[in-house]
Amino acid sequence: MLFDTHAHLDDARFDEDRESVIAGLKDAGVSLVVNIGADMESSAASVALSKKYDFIYAAVGVHPDETGALTEADMETLAAYTKEDKVVAIGEIGLDYHNMGAEKEVQKTWFRRQLLLAKELSLPYIVHDRDAHADVLEIIKESGYYNGVMHCYSGSAEMVREVVGLGMMISFAGPVTFKNAAKTKDAALAVPLDHLMVETDCPYLSPEPHRGKRNDSSRVRFVAEEIARIKGISLEELAKITKENGKRFFRISE
Ligand code: NI
Repeated sequence: MLFDTHAHLDDARFDEDRESVIAGLKDAGVSLVVNIGADMESSAASVALSKKYDFIYAAVGVHPDETGALTEADMETLAAYTKEDKVVAIGEIGLDYHNMGAEKEVQKTWFRRQLLLAKELSLPYIVHDRDAHADVLEIIKESGYYNGVMHCYSGSAEMVREVVGLGMMISFAGPVTFKNAAKTKDAALAVPLDHLMVETDCPYLSPEPHRGKRNDSSRVRFVAEEIARIKGISLEELAKITKENGKRFFRISE
């Protein structure tokens, strides 16, 4: 059974068929999901999903693109959400210099602030890093708190060694299956098995052979298959290891 450690099943693209998509996951071999907040609204929706479905857990946090209008009151709201049993992490938080949905300094301010929130609450955190590797690592090191995962990893194999050296986890999504993803495949090879997790980031980043379509948590299998191939182990073994890693990281006892 697989653990999709990063999904956005609250996304509007599931409004027509969310119930049936989620109902089909166990038969598709997916026994655990963490639904991730990306703004204040989706953080609330994430908590609601975790209350409705026994195998869905929630993370709450604000994606760098959405940090423009954040306030301290929002941080209090996020902290309050974490009092719920099945809210297991802060995220997704980080820096995105590709989209630039907010100015760099604004993104940095709220990345630091939400890292501090995770640290204060002793919760793991989920990092979104797009074209911002150096600044992301600098801010994480400055925080001194390394209980995090680099989600949808897009850095180099060299950076893997630095991130793992800090004690952090690394998670891969659909792009590792893309034919032109030599760098990401090399990075996957470099991640020690005990630091590895898998995810879909659905509805985004659908893996091959469904690239370009709406993604959902059942397709975490294609990500796991590709990494098992890269690592030279069976899908069953990869699934078991990444599920145990995810449960340990998010402190989930199933
Ligand atoms: Ni995401």
